[in-house]
Amino acid sequence: MSKGTRSIKIAILGLGVVGNGVLETLTYKKNAFKDQFASELDVSYILVKDLNKPRELYSSNALITDDYERILSDDSVDIVVEVMGGDQPAFDYIKRAMENGKSVVTANKEVISKHGQELMSIASINGVHLLFEASVGGGIPIIRPLSKDLNANDVDAIRSIINGTTNYILTNMTYMGSTFAEALDEAQTLGYAESDPTNDVEGIDAVYKLSIMASLAFRSQILPQDVYREGISNLTANDFKYAKELGYVIKLMAIAKRQDSEIDIRVHPSLLPEEAPLAKVNGVYNAIQVHGDLVGHVLFQGQGAGGNATASAVVGDIIDVSGDLVRNATPVSYIGNGKEFPIRSIAELVSRYYIRLTVEDRPGVMAKLTDVLGSKAISIASIIQKESDTSLNSAELVITTYPSKEADVQDALNDISELDVVRSIGSTIRIESGSAD
Ligand code: NAP
Ligand code: HSE
Repeated sequence: MSKGTRSIKIAILGLGVVGNGVLETLTYKKNAFKDQFASELDVSYILVKDLNKPRELYSSNALITDDYERILSDDSVDIVVEVMGGDQPAFDYIKRAMENGKSVVTANKEVISKHGQELMSIASINGVHLLFEASVGGGIPIIRPLSKDLNANDVDAIRSIINGTTNYILTNMTYMGSTFAEALDEAQTLGYAESDPTNDVEGIDAVYKLSIMASLAFRSQILPQDVYREGISNLTANDFKYAKELGYVIKLMAIAKRQDSEIDIRVHPSLLPEEAPLAKVNGVYNAIQVHGDLVGHVLFQGQGAGGNATASAVVGDIIDVSGDLVRNATPVSYIGNGKEFPIRSIAELVSRYYIRLTVEDRPGVMAKLTDVLGSKAISIASIIQKESDTSLNSAELVITTYPSKEADVQDALNDISELDVVRSIGSTIRIESGSAD
């Protein structure tokens, strides 16, 4: 059946959390979509890895296969929906689909983050669509706003919580007293976590998403390796306790700022004042604050992971592409050829810091610590002895600083770790201001 008619043939690659959500939505809302958008969305194929796995197919008539070549060689397939995940073979499948004249909708942040520009140009050469709304923020509309609705702005800042799994874990550790392992297990059961949770917990998933948003917002190609990254696996129960006592919560923040023609871009745990809007974003919810010169601050918030929320974004893209196919409209490229801004080193960052360390519990310790910090021009905002262990003759100290340069703080921590009175340096966490700037 040729393009330009009302019937759109779809192949879904992957039938996991997202694939199931997409298939279920396309099955149960088929008639409503036909009435509203004048296109009949038919799922012709579903590609899986393991044909023997038991599956729910929601009365779909689609052919379930493990042979991608079969889908590729079927000229009636208009849209390939890639929801398998990972770099390969997903990248190869997306590329070949477009080279064979098929439009692509994907939820794959890794592929878009690493190969977005190349794929955009393949889409453009072949006159097909490549949409990826679900790649960032699950069900939250953010790709279209950054690519289209905010086009009149110079966007200079994005501050976000964009990993549902880590936000779920951090929220449970903060408010439920869960251990890290218990909270991760729950997030996996609920379908939020990536198949390899390292990507969530170590901030890699957030790096992919942030690099996609920053590339769109700053019209500059930003690759995953440009983003400074720290995960949440080194945080301890004491950090959550002390943060709370100081009036903060701990969040995995993904931040991108354009300053003096350079880009400051990073993913790491941060202390946020309890009253800050982003501090109140809990569980699997994600939130993205964007600042543009005309619009000021805008906040996007919603479920950042899960089958239905993500299907909302994927199916929205499918409807969008279908409409264009039916109208024969020319595809619009999302990633333009913008100016390339240099990336600012993390060493240049100026931030406030929370530092937790274990020291010997004896006179003169504070003087030695404050000497080192003073010698690096690091001004102390507070220093509190939290807990003593008399059997070990040790005490835990929490220091917060005024704004200091990252390079100076790292130098000071090196020197501090060599002091004879210091047993270990526990955590160093940057403190974010509550304001959106
Ligand atoms: P998932 O539950 O692990 O499902 C992956 C599916 O892909 C499975 O059905 C698997 O087949 C299939 N698959 C994997 N490799 C394949 C291959 N080489 N050939 C054929 N089929 C293959 O993953 P998911 O959570 O749905 O995530 C899918 C994508 O959506 C990822 O890019 C992810 O980052 C993104 N995403 C996920 C969420 C979320 O909340 N989960 C939210 C936003 C975006 P089998 O069933 O045979 O194993
Ligand atoms: N694992 C991801 C998360 C899924 O937890 O946010 C959504 O991309």
